[in-house]
Amino acid sequence: MAQKIIIDTDPGQDDAVAILLALASPELEVRAITAVAGNVPLALTQRNARIVCEIAGRTDVPVLAGCDAPLKRPLVTAEHVHGKTGLDGVDVYEPELPLTEGHAVDRIIEELRAAPGEIILCPLGPLTNIAAALQKAPDIAGKIARIVLMGGAYFEVGNITPAAEFNIYVDPEAAAVVFGSGVPITVLPLDVTHKVLTTRARIDAFRALGRIGETVAAWTDFFERFDVAKYGGEGAPLHDPCVIAWLLKPELFSGREINVEIEVESELTRGMTVADWWGVTDRPKNALFIGDVDADGFFELLTERLGRY
Ligand code: BDR
Ligand code: CA
Repeated sequence: MAQKIIIDTDPGQDDAVAILLALASPELEVRAITAVAGNVPLALTQRNARIVCEIAGRTDVPVLAGCDAPLKRPLVTAEHVHGKTGLDGVDVYEPELPLTEGHAVDRIIEELRAAPGEIILCPLGPLTNIAAALQKAPDIAGKIARIVLMGGAYFEVGNITPAAEFNIYVDPEAAAVVFGSGVPITVLPLDVTHKVLTTRARIDAFRALGRIGETVAAWTDFFERFDVAKYGGEGAPLHDPCVIAWLLKPELFSGREINVEIEVESELTRGMTVADWWGVTDRPKNALFIGDVDADGFFELLTERLGRY
């Protein structure tokens, strides 16, 4: 039986690739795609999620809009990485696929109550929708099979500030709710995503696949300009698809069960994931923090799945 998942997302080119990977994978049943404000405002992330479903030919998947701002702070966006539309690199249009009615937070709660213990939540953006759902319906904490999220950093530290990764930085209070929820969590931090780089050979392999591969190559070509200028190296990190790849082939990854706490007080280190990698405290383990990945295996999987379109 396919694993039921909900993808909570702020597309974002790398979010889009993660969605394409999930929708191409029969091991996964995508129950809903829930949009959140993050890389760009909600009006664009929900539209972009619908565009990705149309590109994938999967207009059967419900797309819902969620929170348009973090729990307690003004929204910070990342157009400097993703472009004005969030999906720069391809032509962005108003999709025919309508939004599904209702609020994403309510849909997450309903799905979990209808299938307790069966759904994995896959947040690819700020954790606002997930935290709002946990606050509105505390009973769902015991009904979430696992949360597998892209966010945070340890050795690689920050990308939006010297201390913090973007998704956690944007809504640290939401992240604190999630990490304090008691739900089993897998974290795909920058330490991992900065190892899956969009090298020329890997992107050429996408391009050779035809329409979907060319779309993915156009997206990675776009955000690569920014990332290569920033980090140097051979290509850009493909962050969010790591979440879906971990679900499909966890053997490509390795990590440790550790304690992770979120900095919410200090402005200097706001959104830092204080990850006790070396076990120097006796704080309870609350997350499987991934530290390494077989990058070639990851790209082999992604290319093979994109080739199924
Ligand atoms: C994360 O932030 C966003 O820019 C990406 O989509 C990814 O989810 C990386 O820090
Ligand atoms: Ca994202």
